[in-house]
Amino acid sequence: MIKNTEKLSDARTIFLETFGCQMNELDSELVQDQLAALGYKFHPDRATADVVLFNTCSVREQAENKVLSRIGELGVEKNEGREVVLGMLGCLPEREGKRLLGKYPQIDFICGPSELDHLPTMLHNAVAGERLSASDRSALQGNRSRRSAALSPAGDNLELLDLARAFNPDHRRTTEKSAYVRITRGCNKFCTYCVVPNTRGAEVHRPPDAIVEECKQLVTTGAVEITLLGQTVNHYRYTHGVALNEEGKEVPQVGPNITVFSKPVNENEHVTTFANLLKRIHDEVPEVQRLRFVTSYPKDFGNDILEVMRDSPRICNYLHVPAQSGSDRILKLMNRGYTVEEYLDFIERARTIIPDVEIAGDIIVGFPTETEEDYEATCELIRKVRFKNNFVFHYSPRPGTVAIDRFEDDVPREDKRRWLNSILALGGEISGDVHKQYEGKTVDVFVERLSPKTTKNASVELKWESGKVQLSGRTQGDLICVFDADSEESAKQLIGTVVQVEVTKSAPLLLQGAICCTCE
Ligand code: 5AD
Ligand code: SF4
Repeated sequence: MIKNTEKLSDARTIFLETFGCQMNELDSELVQDQLAALGYKFHPDRATADVVLFNTCSVREQAENKVLSRIGELGVEKNEGREVVLGMLGCLPEREGKRLLGKYPQIDFICGPSELDHLPTMLHNAVAGERLSASDRSALQGNRSRRSAALSPAGDNLELLDLARAFNPDHRRTTEKSAYVRITRGCNKFCTYCVVPNTRGAEVHRPPDAIVEECKQLVTTGAVEITLLGQTVNHYRYTHGVALNEEGKEVPQVGPNITVFSKPVNENEHVTTFANLLKRIHDEVPEVQRLRFVTSYPKDFGNDILEVMRDSPRICNYLHVPAQSGSDRILKLMNRGYTVEEYLDFIERARTIIPDVEIAGDIIVGFPTETEEDYEATCELIRKVRFKNNFVFHYSPRPGTVAIDRFEDDVPREDKRRWLNSILALGGEISGDVHKQYEGKTVDVFVERLSPKTTKNASVELKWESGKVQLSGRTQGDLICVFDADSEESAKQLIGTVVQVEVTKSAPLLLQGAICCTCE
């Protein structure tokens, strides 16, 4: 397959494309730093790179199909004589396993999301043209971490990977002032439709000191906004005094059984909860102007977390807390672990403690056996919660999940499409009202970038008339807000700062306003 090893040994340009969620974006960032430190150069053009890496997503079939079509194209190019190393990273190879290598001989190696510390070796062997067996070209977790409470050595190596990026002096943020910090890997929830517990393994929590240290390092490299990542962030829980490494530092820890959340924290146990962690980061790293977290699980979200959010001005009043469905029957089949009433109780608690909190979510339509009545119940939930937005997906049967084995994908495609479109329309109406309530108010906006209208080759045209340079940022509640700067120069200086904007107009997905002052 690799024809000219001499040339490939010298080959050092990598094209990396990322699919899927923020976890994958963060993994790609880590991969990029790790490989750049070894001398590889990153390259924007897939057609001329020496190495092509796809960091893949397996959550829905559509995401997989997209990457498989890229793999097909590269297969044709390789058959036509192009010398390129092709590596697949992330959830798709973890789910499919070694059979991917048999099915697509153009793939040189595969590496699951929990094995990224093996990537340099895998890539080196591929670039060097080593003729290896399929096993030696696969770094996959399988299910081993599910079987034991002890953490595999890979867990520790992955911890090093997370930390290495924060300490990398080359990782200077110039225009990108936002950073992700992982607090938890994997998921213990096993919603019946979801592949994540299989592809990312059991929940593993990073030690709080390592997380706080990473945040401190990131602000020294220019980060102003930090988003904490976990599949169910509110399940973060670290019990101290359990295990230390050779240097006497705490190591990542397998998460507890979720039943612990129904009991109060035992006073004799020295535990850092998610609320404690948020407060530590807020208080110990005051340079972080905006602290966010995704994704929240609607159950096991205590008032302690909401109270820390309320009392900490730099923690954003924003929750991404997927409901998935508004029908108790469907929630049960999904194994979500809560009822509609419990979801609504949580929203009410959140709004009572943090009156200006904005709520976003995810909805799946067309789950097996879903009826018109279930769909109506979901609409009703959306009306009650008044989400700022929902990401809405067709149910996609995923190999390896409980749902694919247990239920037939029996909802007609036409119903799925109709429900999805009308949920989007309903969501748009509500989102319009949510945005309208901000008209006439002054909001703090974290300035992210020149708005797409100002950026050359913009694919999005905003519908505002203005001759000036337009900036785009987000409110604490994650609403997009655009406003004008006087000149390109002043616009560039405002990026990465928090400014006050008086909102003059709104649209379903956008606020527009005029800058009042910078509030650093
Ligand atoms: N089909 C459709 N949507 C899914 N999601 C996860 N698995 C599936 C699936 N099999 C959605 C959920 C989740 C989001 C990340 O993706 O809404 O919250
Ligand atoms: Fe998947 Fe459910 Fe875990 Fe979210 S909570 S990652 S939907 S299993």
